[in-house]
Amino acid sequence: MMEKHLISARLRAVKPSATVALSDRARTLAASGRDIISLSAGEPDFDTPAHVIRAASDAMASGFTHYTNAAGIPELREAIAEKLARENGLRVDPGREVLVLPGAKQGVAYACLAFLDDGDECLCPEPSWVSFRELVTLAGGRYIPVATRAENDFRLASGELERHVTSKSRMIILNSPTNPTGKVWSAEELEEVARVARKHDLIVLVDEIYEKILYDGRKHVSLAGLPGMAERCLTLNGFSKAFAMTGWRLGYLAGPARLIEPLLMLQQHTATCAVSFAQKGAVAALRGDSRAQDAMVEAFVRRRALLMDKLSGVPGLSVWKPEGTFYMFLDVRGSGRSSLEVSEHLLENEGLAMTPGDAFGECGQGFIRLSFAASEKTLIEAARRIDSGLRKLTGTRG
Ligand SMILES: Cc1ncc(COP(=O)(O)O)c(C=O)c1O
Repeated sequence: MMEKHLISARLRAVKPSATVALSDRARTLAASGRDIISLSAGEPDFDTPAHVIRAASDAMASGFTHYTNAAGIPELREAIAEKLARENGLRVDPGREVLVLPGAKQGVAYACLAFLDDGDECLCPEPSWVSFRELVTLAGGRYIPVATRAENDFRLASGELERHVTSKSRMIILNSPTNPTGKVWSAEELEEVARVARKHDLIVLVDEIYEKILYDGRKHVSLAGLPGMAERCLTLNGFSKAFAMTGWRLGYLAGPARLIEPLLMLQQHTATCAVSFAQKGAVAALRGDSRAQDAMVEAFVRRRALLMDKLSGVPGLSVWKPEGTFYMFLDVRGSGRSSLEVSEHLLENEGLAMTPGDAFGECGQGFIRLSFAASEKTLIEAARRIDSGLRKLTGTRG
């Protein structure tokens, strides 16, 4: 008799997050009384700005607690279109070209389901955020990693993206600034992605969720603003990272109506709409004063400098200085150990949890991701533990 599966073949193809086992272990150790520092979180350690909370709670108190238009409340779509024009140089029609989402992650899922048939290929530069691969797979697509290397500042080698294009290629997913490396794609690199997309008629989903967290005067460039790209680009963004609103579950997509409309249909049949009063808070986030956001970015600037200083000279470690985001991709290849061995060693012996780099793709092997969304005091202690752990692993005296 044929074995019957409870779980669909589609879902069986998806792997659980490689980071889960480590965070479970960290939680178990903490519950047993161990002093554990976790630098594995992907969320800002700041409060949502007060005026944003006020706007949402006022909306809730006034009875704004029902379904909204599936694409999002008109006021928020207008605020998003204004933001995209003001900050990103993109012109979109708030009526047909903006979709408010219950989290940016949902936008990745929709795009994969809408534009990938079984076996269609989606190219993604790696190291990359863990969910891209699994959401492409869930939709029945083939995820095609395109490796980048720290030695080359995580730039795509010339012709590398195009070398991976086949007759089955449909989509590219790009994330700038990039989780987990902290790389920011330059205008020149984006131009190369645009050239390949135009030449091979590919859709590009550009995840710009870390656009506000940039260092050393870098400017964010939106791929959709490059010639010929508005018609094939879906710009994905959200409120989680820029406004410390991870729990609000709110993001948005902007792009041409021909690409947004199928996604709206998916939303109508799955989520219906994003949370009503959260959308009111998001209007306040986009239209209100940005002091809280500026203070958050300034804190990340200080923490990055602190870690660059404290981690210099740690044996077996070299640090690629992030250009954006609140992540550092630590190169531990000099320790002679794998990502997992170093992560496990630091957790078991030093009580420090970080994410093994190969969770973000094979080319992340030999790296570990540190999130500096933590206080300076915590980061100083974490740096001490990294130094102590790597000295033990490499047999270097302190
Ligand atoms: C690259 C990237 N995109 C999207 C998300 C998720 O965003 P949201 O909270 O809006 O679903 C994350 C969260 O870690 C991320 O790193």
